[in-house]
Amino acid sequence: MGESMQLKYQRDRKVWDNCAITYEDQIVSGHPDVVAYEKFEENFLDKVCLYLDKNYESSLKIIDVGCGSGRLHVRYGKYVKIPSIENVSGVDFSEKMLEIARLKLKQEGIEGLSCPVLEFEQGSAFDLQPETATVLPVAVNLINSLGVMQGEKGAQKLFKAMRRCVEHAGGIAIISCYQKAFIKQYALPQYESTLNVCGQPAWLKPDTFASEKYILKPKFFKRANHDGLSLEVEVYENNKLIKPSFFLYRDNKLTEQVIKSGKIKTYSDYGSNWYSFSQIEDWMKEHWNGLPMYHIPTQAIDPENAEAGQLAILDINNILKEFISKIL
Ligand SMILES: C[S@@+](CC[C@H](N)C(=O)[O-])C[C@H]1O[C@@H](n2cnc3c(N)ncnc32)[C@H](O)[C@@H]1O
Repeated sequence: MGESMQLKYQRDRKVWDNCAITYEDQIVSGHPDVVAYEKFEENFLDKVCLYLDKNYESSLKIIDVGCGSGRLHVRYGKYVKIPSIENVSGVDFSEKMLEIARLKLKQEGIEGLSCPVLEFEQGSAFDLQPETATVLPVAVNLINSLGVMQGEKGAQKLFKAMRRCVEHAGGIAIISCYQKAFIKQYALPQYESTLNVCGQPAWLKPDTFASEKYILKPKFFKRANHDGLSLEVEVYENNKLIKPSFFLYRDNKLTEQVIKSGKIKTYSDYGSNWYSFSQIEDWMKEHWNGLPMYHIPTQAIDPENAEAGQLAILDINNILKEFISKIL
């Protein structure tokens, strides 16, 4: 990794350690638009695995890259049993995220499960190693994790790492992320109303309480297409409510810059990029060149839950051809 990449990586790791608990509450099982998108991702992945279970002889290994709090471990370890899934393996750089994940497995009573084996590794998404051909690897990168992986350089490293991981074993890589075209309808309301997770968005003013000393809690979730220009929050200092009502407002110029650039920034160093459909298409062509692949706007599969996303799928041996033609 180059030096600036190394710095970004370390900074982001700290950011994710700091927001792990609230991220779990307010995002993974909180904001209704995120929950809907997660539901789409889970249904889609279930269908892929069931198709492979029926039509393919090998056992499956799910590799969840940027696994966070282990959403897929819990799902395939307990709630959705697909016989050919032999292993669910998660990689994440945040120790705190993995702590939450391990605790969840314990609470669900599936810690140490042997079928499927549930594993975690603290490490970099960019260092994925080639899987052997004894199982069929299905590497996934969900809920816009691509967008929080250290900017455009990081995103491209991820495309390369996913290929490296599955190519030798003839596997599948799936990247699910949001589209920049939907940043105004989806990202602005979502990041505003979860600002106690990742910090006050940089386009909201004033910044009176925008420091680590204070926690701002929004009074309600803003849903997609909410075009209100203000946000009412409570202000806490050391867990004590010090202001029951405080209003933040969108700064027109800064808001326009975010919509144009696709770059979300907060006062807590958090950054998330929403990449355009054409940008993802270019990276697929550049880094997965010559291999079978599919690029799908998710609204073509599930417009109700997934209007704003896109799927980049690398399918080394083209084993999903029939499946993809059926779901579209
Ligand atoms: C948007 S969360 C998604 C969590 C999980 N995939 C889910 O669906 O609930 C992104 C995750 O990526 C992790 N992450 C970000 N950059 C990373 C990197 N370079 N290597 C490994 N993990 C990274 C963060 O710690 C965080 O847990």
